[in-house]
Amino acid sequence: MLLINIKQLLGVHAEEKLRLEGAEMSALPSIENAWLKIEHGKIADFGSMNELDNHQLSSMVSGGASEVIDLKDKLVLPAWNDSHTHLVFAASREEEFLMKIQGKTYEEITAAGGGILNSARKLANASENELYDSAAERLQEVMQLGTGAIEIKSGYGLSYEAELKMLKVIRRLKETFPLPVKATFLGAHAFPQEFKQNQEGYIDLLINRLLPTIADEGLADFIDAFCEQNYFSIAQTERIIDAGARYGLKAKIHVNQFTNAGATQACVKKGALSVDHLEVTDDEVIASLKGSATMATLLPSCSLFINIPFANARGMIAAGLGVALASDFNPGTTPSGNMNLVVALACMKMKMLPNEAINAATLNGAYAMDLSATHGSITKSKQANLIITKAVPSVNYLPYAFGSNLIEKVLINGKVV
Ligand code: NIG
Ligand code: FE
Repeated sequence: MLLINIKQLLGVHAEEKLRLEGAEMSALPSIENAWLKIEHGKIADFGSMNELDNHQLSSMVSGGASEVIDLKDKLVLPAWNDSHTHLVFAASREEEFLMKIQGKTYEEITAAGGGILNSARKLANASENELYDSAAERLQEVMQLGTGAIEIKSGYGLSYEAELKMLKVIRRLKETFPLPVKATFLGAHAFPQEFKQNQEGYIDLLINRLLPTIADEGLADFIDAFCEQNYFSIAQTERIIDAGARYGLKAKIHVNQFTNAGATQACVKKGALSVDHLEVTDDEVIASLKGSATMATLLPSCSLFINIPFANARGMIAAGLGVALASDFNPGTTPSGNMNLVVALACMKMKMLPNEAINAATLNGAYAMDLSATHGSITKSKQANLIITKAVPSVNYLPYAFGSNLIEKVLINGKVV
């Protein structure tokens, strides 16, 4: 496939760039009036139309590029890499939405029987097939909204059987969808009712029964924990991270969503791949991330939906950190997997520049799933997972016109989805 007359090809990064940090994030290297050739699902080559004479163009077309698409006035950019979702769930929770509108906080809703345990009760009764069908529908939807790689967590099972059930659903999604799907074991999402008085018993179930089975069957790529007051303590989270590491699972941890109590610093020390949320931070938290391999992953649509602070993206970038953007798609705090909205919110509510937000949602998102060697930028031999926009005046128009669907086509492995 050959794309020609692309108004602007965005996110052209050198191969060795696995993530972007600090001031680097404001540059979105691009080629105006560009062409891009796709072969065997990968980006084979690209360049400027101006440097291409008619002879070269016709030989490229006859030389195997079967389909030629003329993209006058349209942009091409890497597909979104959504590195934090809870896309497998049994039922929506709009009853909690009403409570929230009436002024209840997330904590109050949880105390009234909502929250994670509400989703776990619903998931316990759902079959693997039912869960697969509803998750597949959501995945299809977000793919059409431009998501070209995704991480999906367990964590609404909270029992031996139901956690495995969720992870098997994620495995089936991996097998049946064309985009990369990364599975994260989030057994440490909340203490189930029957273990409220026996936290040690639950941690033992996670570490000594579930993890070995999960590792045996290759059901997870990463491990996660909700490190927060009333959920998992820092010490418990550290044990979960260490246990995951023994099976080769890198950590991606929910931190600093409601309180700032040292979770980020602990996870950075443990070499986590990412720390996610970070709505409640200070200079010390930001400083702890500096120079580490841990990606700060921000989830602005969660802040929007449950009325909590937006993460301090400007402070992080000013300190030289790289940040990633992800959706947090889940039925409780973010019932949306629309990464276009995430990028727009990052601009509107966290004062990220469109270039920064796009880098955060593409290359840095890929880094937060260990995928940036193959995804997240326009680089030769990377996978051709691309967004083709409708005709737009400029790249800044994408987050500006935040209510419009500006995506014309999404390519995964070079094929329209
Ligand atoms: O990322 N913070 C913890 N977990 C989810 C919310 C889970 C839920 O309410 O179902 C989150 O926001
Ligand atoms: Fe989450």
